[in-house]
Amino acid sequence: MDQMTFKHDTVLSDVHMHRPNTHHLMTRLNSAGQPVFRSRFRILADSHDDSDSGTGSANEEKHKSPRKDGGTSPEQDEEGGNQGNVEPCLDEDGDLDVTHRPRKSSVDEDGRDLVCPIILQQSVPDLDQDEDSDDDDNDDDEETCSKDIIQIEHTMATPLEDVGKQVWRGALLLADFILSEKDTFRGATVLELGAGTGLTSIIMATTAKTVYCTDVGEDLLRLCHRNIFLNQHMTDPAGGEVKVKQLNWLQHSLCTDADLEFSWTEAEVADLYDNTNFIIAADVCYDNDLTDGLFRTLYRLCSSFIHSCTVFISLEKRMNFSLRHMDICCEAYNHFKHCLSQLQDIEDGRCRFKVEHVPLNFSQFLLYERIEQLDLWKITASPLESEQTQSDSD
Ligand SMILES: C[S@@+](CC[C@H](N)C(=O)[O-])C[C@H]1O[C@@H](n2cnc3c(N)ncnc32)[C@H](O)[C@@H]1O
Repeated sequence: MDQMTFKHDTVLSDVHMHRPNTHHLMTRLNSAGQPVFRSRFRILADSHDDSDSGTGSANEEKHKSPRKDGGTSPEQDEEGGNQGNVEPCLDEDGDLDVTHRPRKSSVDEDGRDLVCPIILQQSVPDLDQDEDSDDDDNDDDEETCSKDIIQIEHTMATPLEDVGKQVWRGALLLADFILSEKDTFRGATVLELGAGTGLTSIIMATTAKTVYCTDVGEDLLRLCHRNIFLNQHMTDPAGGEVKVKQLNWLQHSLCTDADLEFSWTEAEVADLYDNTNFIIAADVCYDNDLTDGLFRTLYRLCSSFIHSCTVFISLEKRMNFSLRHMDICCEAYNHFKHCLSQLQDIEDGRCRFKVEHVPLNFSQFLLYERIEQLDLWKITASPLESEQTQSDSD
């Protein structure tokens, strides 16, 4: 399979766009006959992170603010020079002759701090060479894979109904947020909606206790399940467990039919309703009917949970030409914002929703282009009955 065939409804994630279309990255054909590729994403170490807890914002601060003691940061010293002791250098006309010292790259300095957009790179050549040896024995990969590398099997250039088989930039943004807020999620029970390849759930399981990684379609869920298996080297040391489950936003109840793969047991359903602390979803708002289904699901779950729950949704605004508006616009994003405000306006006595925009000033742990169209939202859902019970007991 040398060439990829693009049909009118074929979509290709930017995350995979710069991957060479080469043989050695293709690992197999899936049951639908689609080529499956494997990409490796290196998680950059946080050099300011002594305790394995995220200190992303502090990290940003180092670059943006003067030091508290009134001095300048090392970066500023480097750019501005030691101005007090240096004689100004003038050319023959008396103009100031400025010599630029080569700037040290922040990557060279401490191995991370890649906050601005950089060249998309999912893996490095020496990693790719490892692929040659794993054709027959993929199942051993988690043993040889370094602790900071997540490997994801995915397809490329899928029809719209199979978009979950690719990795989307929103997943990398949400993964970054989780890695920069590890303490927030530590030991938590988390539900991911529309998890696709499972990348974000895997990252979440490096700190959370239980992650229900959900989506629709057996083929996709099997791919996701395989990715969870391939990345046990990341989740096992933290004791996090990822459970791949079917959860369709267009259906009212969870599938508990034991004969079906990826169905829920009664105990898991109870655990979900009793213990979920967070719901996460990456790049799931691209079709208005699906977005409506997603928000109905969020409302139904959050208002049935015993405790309050925080939802994080990442998305990428995609501009399209709209015949209705005769202009370039982002209808899917506008509809998402409409659903957000509807949720916030709900006053049914069961649950209150608060919506906040999350600034994207946290560190970047994965290499991708953090374009301005990326967005992250936080919804806090507080069941009113539990609030009432709490104030009664106080
Ligand atoms: C653009 S993909 C995002 C996948 C992944 N979160 C990521 O960012 O890489 C959208 C995801 O929503 C899922 N999805 C679409 N309709 C759904 C539904 N009715 N119920 C649950 N998931 C659905 C798709 O299967 C797909 O995995």
